[in-house]
Amino acid sequence: MRVDVVSIFPEYLAPLDLSLIGRARARGVLQLAVHDLRTWTHDVHRTVDDTPYGGGPGMVMRPEPWGEALDALAPAQAPPPRLLVPSPAGARFTQAMAHELAAEEHLLFACGRYEGIDQRVLDHAATRMPVTEVSLGDYVLFGGEVAVLVILESVTRLLPGVLGNAGSLDEESHAHGLLEAPVYTKPPSWRGHDVPEILRSGDHGRIARWRRDEALRRTAERRPDMVAALGDLDRWDRAALE
Ligand code: ADE
Repeated sequence: MRVDVVSIFPEYLAPLDLSLIGRARARGVLQLAVHDLRTWTHDVHRTVDDTPYGGGPGMVMRPEPWGEALDALAPAQAPPPRLLVPSPAGARFTQAMAHELAAEEHLLFACGRYEGIDQRVLDHAATRMPVTEVSLGDYVLFGGEVAVLVILESVTRLLPGVLGNAGSLDEESHAHGLLEAPVYTKPPSWRGHDVPEILRSGDHGRIARWRRDEALRRTAERRPDMVAALGDLDRWDRAALE
């Protein structure tokens, strides 16, 4: 997968050199480049923002540098990337969206700062490529950079060959619309707290049922919205919730 990120703070994305994302890059699973938006400015001050039309607080990112950046990174003759614009006004980022993005050939992230990017940048881009405004949640960050770190971490771990044990993708929270059951390792007893006996029983059928029950109970307690979205439950699942 190819990923380009445009930001006025490229250093913010330095963690992308680390850990499993860094390894995916080193192995060529992920071809990632971070670009400084100011590369596409032409004045001595390398200006990227201006006051908003219609008044109001803060500054808005001017369209010209963004237009040139997108022309350079998504040239008309090449297959278009999917443009992602992190914004608190975007569609909520979910594990389902992470899977959708992991299937793309080329992602292009445009990190806004201040009050956001002039809307015409997105409108013009949408005539040439799919554009998605994406929000991490109902809160406001200074800019899109941290959102890109989050999105790329969740997408990269879904790419084939990135996780040592792909089975963990199947059991984790949100894999089946549920939160994951609690996990334990050695020692069997620690500070008066014991590992549930069933996990040490070796009975894989009962362990699987116990994990499902715990996942259902936890989800019902913490995220009733997720249980409501599950649809029809079988009688074992219903029993676990009683
Ligand atoms: N930029 C500012 N706030 C954001 C949020 N909640 N999600 C994604 N990008 C953002």
